[in-house]
Amino acid sequence: MVDGGRLWKRLSELAEIGRQEEGGVARLSFTEEERAAKDLVASYMEEAGLAVREDAAGNLFGRREGRDPEAPAVLVGSHVDSVLNGGDFDGPLGVLGGIEVLQTMDEEGVEMGRPVEVVAFTDEEGARFSLGMIGSRALTGTLLQEDLRHEDRNGVSIEQAMRNAGLDPGKVGEAARPADSLAAYLELHIEQGKVLEGEDLPVGVVTGIAGPVWLRLSFAGEAGHAGTTPMGARRDALAAAAEVVGVIEEEASDTGSTVGTVGQIEAGPGGINIIPGRVDLSLDLRDIDEAVRDRAEGRIRGRAGEVCNRRGIDLSFEELQRLPPAPCSEEIRGAISAACEKEGIRPHPLPSGAGHDGMHVAELCPMGMIFVRSKDGVSHNPKEWSSREDCEAGCKVLYLTVLDLARQR
Ligand code: HGY
Ligand code: MN
Ligand code: MN
Repeated sequence: MVDGGRLWKRLSELAEIGRQEEGGVARLSFTEEERAAKDLVASYMEEAGLAVREDAAGNLFGRREGRDPEAPAVLVGSHVDSVLNGGDFDGPLGVLGGIEVLQTMDEEGVEMGRPVEVVAFTDEEGARFSLGMIGSRALTGTLLQEDLRHEDRNGVSIEQAMRNAGLDPGKVGEAARPADSLAAYLELHIEQGKVLEGEDLPVGVVTGIAGPVWLRLSFAGEAGHAGTTPMGARRDALAAAAEVVGVIEEEASDTGSTVGTVGQIEAGPGGINIIPGRVDLSLDLRDIDEAVRDRAEGRIRGRAGEVCNRRGIDLSFEELQRLPPAPCSEEIRGAISAACEKEGIRPHPLPSGAGHDGMHVAELCPMGMIFVRSKDGVSHNPKEWSSREDCEAGCKVLYLTVLDLARQR
């Protein structure tokens, strides 16, 4: 059965790549840190006896053949890029868990009907370019050339960053996999919430993934002298933005299931004695129910417009990404639940508030996810933590689920 010690050792080694002084990790897409992480993961794949390759989008694959090399493969995986100052487990647990499963199969001489592949997707987080899931969009043939024009804070586009990383952005289309090449996609991931902790369970069965809308709101007012401009004569872009942030929190809270976050805000020109004339802020709005999310979005847009009309501010919206919620496959949920029971773990269904590559891969094949308990539900934070025992329990459930799905009926 899987070797929890080897999994834990690899998690610890990988976590040192991109280590920050504040204690977290930073491995943004198409940077040296993400490259170094993929090189280390590739070495683990080779130790596991896998055929290793990288596709035109930088997705890193390790493949183990089954009795029928032509059969659609079972794909397991996740990502090794991170958010700014993120945690050690978000992404790596799924990639290293997948490698551990295949290495165990190899060491125990387990022969599967289907081929099984493990993947480290490029840029799942979107932390650098505010798009995200670049690798899985490419895998499903939905990464458009226009998407590659998204820029990071230094004005470097995805296209340029890919070139700097030795990739040809014009060839991302070659990363697309035909739908009949995959039988199932399975991802082991930390929960990043508190449900499993509340249920006192190490592992859970994901029912579906909430759909995110990412918007950029731009407020145009008028810069002015902080000392000579009366309060009633201002077009203060930051005061307007602050009121709209309150509207976002109210409307998201009102539905009981929606979450709304303003993670980025930039005000200019930025002098202590200048009334801000312009503000850009980000909005991340999600719900497991698309209609509920979109109604909340509509109310936010309407009320933000009223605030800006009243204040004489021009408001514009730019859509950065919009994904529907992705339900998990009933068949795969059943296989994961059976694996939990074999491990003596009560199968507990729960939704994912976080986005994952499975939202895209679900366009090609049935998708399922296994969650591992997160301490205090903390993630996207250096305090992100899952115990060695829970990581091993999740990897065992992944192993048994892959055995079931790859046996080939
Ligand atoms: O943003 C997310 O939900 C994921 O962590 N990329
Ligand atoms: Mn993740
Ligand atoms: Mn994440």
